[in-house]
Amino acid sequence: MSKKKKIRAEVISQSLLAEGIMDLRLRTSLAEDANPGQFIGVYPQNKSTLLPRPISICGSDRENQELRIVYRIAGSGTAEFALYQKGDNVDILGVLGNGFPLDKAAGKRVLIIGGGIGVPPLLGLAKELSENPDVRPESVTMVMGYRNADTFLTDEFENFGKLLIATEDGSIGIKGNVIDACKENGVEADVIYACGPMPMLRGVAAYAKETGAKAYISLEERMACGVGACLGCICKTKDVDEHSHVKNARICTDGPVFDADELEL
Ligand code: FES
Repeated sequence: MSKKKKIRAEVISQSLLAEGIMDLRLRTSLAEDANPGQFIGVYPQNKSTLLPRPISICGSDRENQELRIVYRIAGSGTAEFALYQKGDNVDILGVLGNGFPLDKAAGKRVLIIGGGIGVPPLLGLAKELSENPDVRPESVTMVMGYRNADTFLTDEFENFGKLLIATEDGSIGIKGNVIDACKENGVEADVIYACGPMPMLRGVAAYAKETGAKAYISLEERMACGVGACLGCICKTKDVDEHSHVKNARICTDGPVFDADELEL
């Protein structure tokens, strides 16, 4: 379970990474508890909107209490966040969600797959795995998918293992989606970690099944409030929930990371 608190953070810096993609660094003690795959809720300053916006954690520097979030401008809340500058204060809630099960990577061939705005949380994951003595750098392959040449974070992923890039229009890397890139390069793994849009995650689950890998997928793109209030993030599970007796899970409170074998995708 994640420890959760609402806290005021200070903006350290903010920059534009690609069209509509912002890189925001915050000074906050929440950095100490943040793990790859978890997220925070960011409160808009316009108080008519009381619910925070869930944004995944791209990285954390525990020592310096720095939390990095990379997000897409997709509505009035995130458009407001994009205006924040060094020294501004912002209320955040966190840390939220379960995060990726990092222990599953020990001694295994690891494949990290990201698509679109599902890419940022995987940078924190790749970094964390690179610091794990039980994970050999040569056994980590990363495949990141983008629409076109307007990619982001790729230079940072390259520090942590072999990186393949797929673009829909073929302007960089392999033309096609992330699964095309895996197939074209014969990428095999024991464990897959993935985050991205639902069609991509379905493809990842199918690829894992085909190749005998275990997949852990983050469904965070489907979250709305991020705090269990809107019920906009229900997903279907194969097993009946012990408490509610239904085959449902809430992505924001039960996930966002799930074992792909446990979901009806
Ligand atoms: Fe609102 Fe999960 S995102 S309940």
